Amino acid sequence: MSQMESKFNMPGHATHDTSAINRLRQDFSGVDSVWLFGYGSLIYKVDFPYIECRPATIRGWSRRLWQGSHDHRGTFEHPGRVVTLVPEHDAICMGMAYRITPATFEHLDHREKNGYLRFAMTLNFADNESAEGIVYIANAENAAWLGPADEAAIARHVAGASGPSGSNRDYVLKLAQALHELGADDPHVFGVEACLRKLTASASARP
Ligand code: SIN
Repeated sequence: MSQMESKFNMPGHATHDTSAINRLRQDFSGVDSVWLFGYGSLIYKVDFPYIECRPATIRGWSRRLWQGSHDHRGTFEHPGRVVTLVPEHDAICMGMAYRITPATFEHLDHREKNGYLRFAMTLNFADNESAEGIVYIANAENAAWLGPADEAAIARHVAGASGPSGSNRDYVLKLAQALHELGADDPHVFGVEACLRKLTASASARP
């Protein structure tokens, strides 16, 4: 971690804001468009302009609900759980790739500011095509990191959290729906989805 990253990720820092670091991470001067890979809310909440979009995969990363959300699906006192990517040998993560102009990163850096850093990696498309793209990943060193828990515990946590962008439950269910529609194989997200639905069913069955 660079000195600048650690300063912005210090426990107790008011916002844990990574947007200033992200602005310095890649140089897009002279570039007209950049591929962005979305694997979480960026799949289903597309509040940014794009030139084209295509389903894509990345290799060696797995989606996990291990990142805390202070600014969207929770609060600083009661963070929600949102997805990040963790390295896993040969894992395939399916998501959506968007070709965007470099100017769009201003909005994205603000949206993903709670611990996510931009990384460059290879995106794979259908027909053996591939391209370099940018992915936002929150790693274990960021101050909002929550880490692993079993799926039932994650579902209980999610069921009790909400923030300025809505309930944490809505985040997980919308993501699961988008992944079902993409035909993605994601036992972790689908496992948490199933636990969440069970919790709702048992709550509504109570007298
Ligand atoms: C992403 O969607 O690619 C990043 C995580 C999120 O915003 O949910």
